[in-house]
Amino acid sequence: MAKPILVANWKNHPGSLSEAGVLLKQLSGSARLYQKLSLFIAPPLPYLESVSLRTGNFAHLALQDFPASSDGTHTGMVTPDILKSFGVKLAIIGHSERRALGETNDSVAQKVKAALRSGILSLVCVGELSRDQDGEHFEFLREQIKLSLAGLNRKTDISKLALAYEPVWAIGKRADDAITPADLSQSVIFIKKVLVDMFGRTIAERIPILYGGAVEPVDATALFGGTGIKGFLVGHASLNAKSFKTIAESLIRK
Ligand code: PGA
Repeated sequence: MAKPILVANWKNHPGSLSEAGVLLKQLSGSARLYQKLSLFIAPPLPYLESVSLRTGNFAHLALQDFPASSDGTHTGMVTPDILKSFGVKLAIIGHSERRALGETNDSVAQKVKAALRSGILSLVCVGELSRDQDGEHFEFLREQIKLSLAGLNRKTDISKLALAYEPVWAIGKRADDAITPADLSQSVIFIKKVLVDMFGRTIAERIPILYGGAVEPVDATALFGGTGIKGFLVGHASLNAKSFKTIAESLIRK
C-alpha cells in the first residue's frame, strides 16, 4: 500500500533562515519516522536549498505556488523548470490564500498543466468558503474541482495529481473549531463522487485526497481514521517540530 502523505506548508515562516535551521534540525531528529511517510516540505523559496540539504534523506521539496508560464522572459518570476532543478517534487496549487489574492480556477488548471510539463506532482487545493444547512457548499466544491482539473488527460495525467480538501473556514483555526470527522467523511465521499464523474471509478480511485485546515496533534488521529483521506496538508502545526511529529505518528498508527 502507498505510504500516507504529509505536506508541511510553512507559508511565510519561520521568519529567518537561522530559525528555519533550528526547525530543520529538530525535524531531522525524527528522520526515521518521516521515512515511513511520503513527506513534503513547502518552505519559503529562499530556504529551498537549506531544506534540501538538511532533509534529503527523509523529505521531498515542495512549492507553495509557482507561475504557470515558463515561456518568454519574466522579470521577478521563478519558473517551474528552475524550481525542478532544485529537486522540487510537488507543488501546492490553488491554496485558498492564493485564491484570495486573485487565483482563479482557470489559472489553477493552467498551473496543473505547467506542473505536469515539468514533471512536478500537483496538489490541488479545493474547499468551500463557508458551510450552509442546505448543502449549497457542495455545489461550490463540485464547480471548483471540475474547473481546477479541466483539460487533464485521464490516462496520462492522473498519476501526477493529488487533491487537498481545505475548507477555508477551518484554515488556521484551532482543533476545537476544526471540521468533525463525520463532516470530513461526508465531504470526502462527495469529492470522490465528483472525481468518479470526471474520470471514471478506476482512475478516480488513484487520486489521493488529503485534508488540511486546523490539523493539530489533538485531532489528527480522529481526522485520519476512517474518513477516507490519505494524509494531511499542515500549516501552522508544521512549524512546531513536536506537534508535527505527533501528526506524523497519527498517520502510521492506523
Ligand atoms: P492550517 O493551514 O493547518 O494552519 O490550518 C493549512 C493550510 O493553509 O494549508
